[in-house]
Amino acid sequence: MENTIKLPEPQKELEFPLMKALEKRRTIRKWSDSPITEQELSNLLWAACGITKNKTKSAKSKRTAPSACNSQEIRVYTVMKQGVFLYDEDCHELKMINSIDIREHIGTQKMMKSVPIGLVFVADLSRMKGPLLKNLEAQRFCAWVDTGYISQNVYLYCTASNLGTAVLALINREKLHKLMDLKEEEKIVLTQVVGHLAE
Ligand SMILES: Cc1cc2nc3c(=O)[nH]c(=O)nc-3n(C[C@H](O)[C@H](O)[C@H](O)COP(=O)(O)O)c2cc1C
Repeated sequence: MENTIKLPEPQKELEFPLMKALEKRRTIRKWSDSPITEQELSNLLWAACGITKNKTKSAKSKRTAPSACNSQEIRVYTVMKQGVFLYDEDCHELKMINSIDIREHIGTQKMMKSVPIGLVFVADLSRMKGPLLKNLEAQRFCAWVDTGYISQNVYLYCTASNLGTAVLALINREKLHKLMDLKEEEKIVLTQVVGHLAE
């Protein structure tokens, strides 16, 4: 297994009316066994928080999702059968963290154990600097809000692409934190499951 999965270019020309996606967006807790393709994963991760403007000498890059002070503190981890991967949005690739299948820990509800793809939204507090983010309370509030934008991007992409998704707060964060080898300043905010709709 390669340590890096280079994702195909995201299909940005996907057509689906925004107002329809908002109307149809729903939390779905059932999925089929059919695997998510690399193309779908590429689209999903780019929609979540992919780069829309490259960094320059004087300015940071921009993402599909806003973040407080453009901190871009939320890192998206992808948990799948092959292991745990970190989405590197600059290179649009997945970097392998380990080859352990930890999908059963993505959420504490029984039905989450069979999920094809789990996303873990991790706030790297060390990235949170700026006038808004002077104390831990402000950092935590903003990390939750910033996660919400990313999660909604995932919801809208899934709606437009006939995928089912659910965002989860019912998580054993301590256990997941250990399994993912995260650092002290890396905090799990929410997780989100994604799969093809059940027939
Ligand atoms: C912050 C947050 C946490 C959530 N946590 C869970 C969860 O742990 N398990 C779950 O099944 N649904 C979870 N949900 C999904 C909600 O139950 C769902 O959004 C709500 O019932 C409304 O349904 P809808 O998303 O289809 O409009 C969560 C939603 C949000 C916004």
